[in-house]
Amino acid sequence: MNILGIETSCDETAAAVVTDGVQVRSSVIATSRAAFLHMGGVIPEDAARRQLSCIVPVIRSALDQASMRIEDIEALAVTFGPGLFGSLIVGTSAARTLASIFEKPLIHVHHTLGHLTSTWLQADPVPVFPCITLSASGGHTDLWLRTSHTRGTLLGRTRDDAAGEAFDKGASLLGLPYPGGPSVAKAAENGNPRAYDFPIPLKGEPCFDFSFSGLKTALRYALRDMGELSPAALTDMAASYQYAICAQLTDRIVRAVDQYSECKEVHVVGGVSANTFLRSMLKSALSIPMRAPATLSYCTDNAAMIAAAGYFLWKEDHERALTSQPTQAAIPLEFAVS
Ligand code: KG4
Ligand code: ZN
Repeated sequence: MNILGIETSCDETAAAVVTDGVQVRSSVIATSRAAFLHMGGVIPEDAARRQLSCIVPVIRSALDQASMRIEDIEALAVTFGPGLFGSLIVGTSAARTLASIFEKPLIHVHHTLGHLTSTWLQADPVPVFPCITLSASGGHTDLWLRTSHTRGTLLGRTRDDAAGEAFDKGASLLGLPYPGGPSVAKAAENGNPRAYDFPIPLKGEPCFDFSFSGLKTALRYALRDMGELSPAALTDMAASYQYAICAQLTDRIVRAVDQYSECKEVHVVGGVSANTFLRSMLKSALSIPMRAPATLSYCTDNAAMIAAAGYFLWKEDHERALTSQPTQAAIPLEFAVS
């Protein structure tokens, strides 16, 4: 089944064609990131305007790269939320228009479900359930115990900032460009991750929640106390800050694997899963295989994950997936919250 996915929740305009939730025929991403590089974040109205000018060429090029016409597409899948309202409306309007003119089913996909499905893209062999999944991006940090694409338990989530947000805010304090994840990772290269002691909140507590806002405050005070940083101190500071974020994520995942020993795999998804330091820390701490999306472009926002999630929604619950009421297709609402 060929699904055309559309994702416009923030500053990326993305379209992709995916077959049976796994084979990526095309994945096109236009990003307005350069415009926000020194702004410390995305300006919503600006992002929406840029979405408008990108959406048609991006969809057209996803079809061209897949060597398909809209007639070859069997359904459309679009992110309905969460995200920036102005940006989301561009993608959902485009998807609704195409679906209605060409009489195709339209599947509404929750952005987080898209990330949760991203480890299926180009996977060989495909993942097996049950698995523990950390989904960490700029907007959320959730730890799931999943028994199928649409079933699972939310073990823990951040109590304040998301992990990606901690990278973004930390980068801004360190004078590094947005988005903070890649720039902190780059600045941290060759740095000493144990040079400065940052807190690892909730460590040892009997819960799987996360907390990152204290870490950001600790960085602010450390920078205030040190005054101007030498290049070597900046490298060590970035490395130590990155270490503290990754150590907290790793601590919760390792404990979840210990507690839910029936799990076969650990998945890390979302923008933060692009972090190579996190991946190697996890690999050495875990006793079971760890999977991240097959390419870095499937970690951050993309439409292939939305097309894949649309496919599994369709497969697992054909009737509900076909609704035009977004809330009824919002899979995270179906997960039991522990
Ligand atoms: O999933 P995503 O593209 O968008 C959201 O749904 O938020 O994630 C973006 C977030 C940003 O906060 C960015 O700083 C972070 O993912 N990120 C990274 C890396 N690449 C992106 N964080 C750590 N290391 C990276 N290499
Ligand atoms: Zn995302």
